[in-house]
Amino acid sequence: MRILLGAIAAGLLLTVLAVGWATQTDRLAQGYAPAQPIPFSHRLHAGSLSIPCLHCHSAADRSRHAGIPAVEVCMECHRVTKTESPAIVQLKALFDSGRPLEWKRVHSLPDHVYFDHRPHVNAGVDCRSCHGPVEDMTVISQAMSLRMNRCLACHRAPRPSLPAESDLQRAPENCHACHR
Ligand code: HEC
Ligand code: HEC
Ligand code: HEC
Ligand code: HEC
Ligand code: HEC
Repeated sequence: MRILLGAIAAGLLLTVLAVGWATQTDRLAQGYAPAQPIPFSHRLHAGSLSIPCLHCHSAADRSRHAGIPAVEVCMECHRVTKTESPAIVQLKALFDSGRPLEWKRVHSLPDHVYFDHRPHVNAGVDCRSCHGPVEDMTVISQAMSLRMNRCLACHRAPRPSLPAESDLQRAPENCHACHR
């Protein structure tokens, strides 16, 4: 009896560990949304206030990385806007200290993958095609899986995400394009 109970307990423990392992948060999966140090809302800033994406992510059309804005960009408005709000008090203290704001990365491809915003943004692929309706998100979350099959699906048939005037029919599918 004691051996049987022991075996059942060990079986249960293994099941719990296996389920935990299989359901752990996948960094590449859709829906990944880590908590951020300041509750910044895209819904408010990019949605209600209609601040253009490129105002804050100004490198998206001219560098590999879109970039996250420095606190200075926030202070363009928050020197005077909502200065009594606890989150803005925190933002101002950080700005005065000169330290960077340590936002948690949401999207992050493995090092062996090469991705560049420029060819996409300059071909007219909208931010939304890959990042989803960011202007509706209070907390930003990964709208697109960053799996290879997702990249390839669009590279094989990019027409629906391109502007009508573009005559591009395919994007690169050779391994070297994304693994260099
Ligand atoms: C007022 C500045 C501002 C505007 C406007 C803005 N963003 Fe952002 N964005 C940020 C900040 C700050 C972060 C980092 C904090 C966060 O993830 O919420 C961020 C994060 C992101 C991320 C996730 C970055 C990561 O770590 O993977 C994406 C994707 C993004 N923004 C897309 C957009 C798109 C698309 C638009 C336009 C619809 C837009 N943003 C408009 C400031 C802005
Ligand atoms: C173009 C002006 C502008 C810029 C740039 C801007 N904000 Fe805002 N922000 C606003 C306005 C306007 C509000 C809403 C005020 C209200 O609720 O009446 C707001 C609200 C907020 C709030 C909510 C405050 C509260 O308690 O209600 C936070 C947090 C915030 N902003 C953070 C940021 C951060 C972080 C950045 C930089 C990445 C940023 N903002 C850039 C204009 C701006
Ligand atoms: C073809 C798909 C695609 C399009 C279009 C796209 N992005 Fe991205 N974006 C990605 C991927 C993939 C990553 C992760 C890159 C990495 O981990 O190196 C990313 C990362 C980001 C990040 C995190 C910081 C960085 O630069 O790595 C921000 C911010 C961002 N994108 C904003 C934007 C904005 C704003 C637009 C539109 C102007 C846009 N993206 C268009 C796929 C896309
Ligand atoms: C929504 C459609 C779409 C998605 C999703 C997409 N791409 Fe692309 N990608 C394109 C288009 C269109 C081009 C071609 C631009 C051109 O030829 O002008 C391109 C070009 C590229 C290039 C440039 C190749 C070269 O020869 O310079 C690389 C690298 C690339 N994509 C990597 C990726 C990776 C990695 C992912 C997934 C994380 C991805 N793309 C997801 C549409 C997409
Ligand atoms: C359009 C971009 C793109 C092209 C083209 C591409 N890959 Fe990938 N590949 C990715 C991305 C993104 C990942 C990381 C996400 C994942 O593991 O699915 C990846 C991951 C991988 C991995 C690691 C898988 C793992 O489980 O860790 C291998 C191996 C790989 N690719 C091989 C290839 C080969 C071989 C080719 C050519 C036949 C190729 N790739 C073409 C984007 C691409």
